[in-house]
Amino acid sequence: MKILTLLLMVIVGCCAKENLQDASFLFYKSSDTSRVVLKPNITEPLINMTVCLEVYTDVVRRDSLFKLQANNYSKPHFHLYQIRDHYYITIDEDQVIYKTTKETMRWRKICVSWEYVTGVVHFWVNGNLFPRRVLNPGFLIYPDSLAVLGQSLASAGLGSYRGEPTFVGEIKNVNMWDRAPYTWETYGNIIDWRYVEYETYGAVILYL
Ligand SMILES: *[C@@H]1O[C@H](CO)[C@@H](O)[C@H](O)[C@H]1NC(C)=O
Ligand SMILES: *[C@@H]1O[C@H](CO)[C@@H](O)[C@H](O)[C@H]1NC(C)=O
Ligand SMILES: *[C@@H]1O[C@H](CO)[C@@H](O)[C@H](O)[C@H]1NC(C)=O
Repeated sequence: MKILTLLLMVIVGCCAKENLQDASFLFYKSSDTSRVVLKPNITEPLINMTVCLEVYTDVVRRDSLFKLQANNYSKPHFHLYQIRDHYYITIDEDQVIYKTTKETMRWRKICVSWEYVTGVVHFWVNGNLFPRRVLNPGFLIYPDSLAVLGQSLASAGLGSYRGEPTFVGEIKNVNMWDRAPYTWETYGNIIDWRYVEYETYGAVILYL
């Protein structure tokens, strides 16, 4: 029993509040079960939000990068994902799509801001702002959310077959704010990369 518990702890990764400066999550192979779960400090419904993360990958297929969802099994309220050279941002059932270029051998800093009243989305890749769009004005993102990095799109109800390739690469510097548009601060007040509560599952390790 003790060994089983220990084994489970190793498989599931650990749960902690840690300073992750200079560290990356390495999603080292495609796997249905791989994901990192972060616990954002959301205490009331989100009016305005910004999330930034840095992503490095050489194989873009159908990759969920970041989503907010009420629990392990619910559909995401907010979802940022990539299919080949398009980024998708969804809030509930509504979505916007951005075309990018394929390029590898380079980190991408991706930031998304969303305003509750107007629904205006600001989307930046490496500091370049895409044309602004409007997404689901007035939708409330409730406070009981988990933030999930890198899980299969099938788990969000997008595509259904098991064994679908999932994100392979690195993700670091995830920060989130309850403000929009992005303020160019380094660390978020809802997710702060210096003080992160996280759990890893599947083929992911945290590496300094
Ligand atoms: C979470 O946010 C609330 C309100 O902004 C703040 O008072 C609290 O200290 C924060 N908790 C943590 C663990 O960061
Ligand atoms: C949300 O963002 C808009 C645009 O920046 C701002 O006018 C509004 O006051 C913000 N609302 C809250 C509750 O922060
Ligand atoms: C999510 O799933 C993990 C195991 O896969 C479990 O340990 C955790 O308690 C679950 N969290 C919620 C909120 O259901």
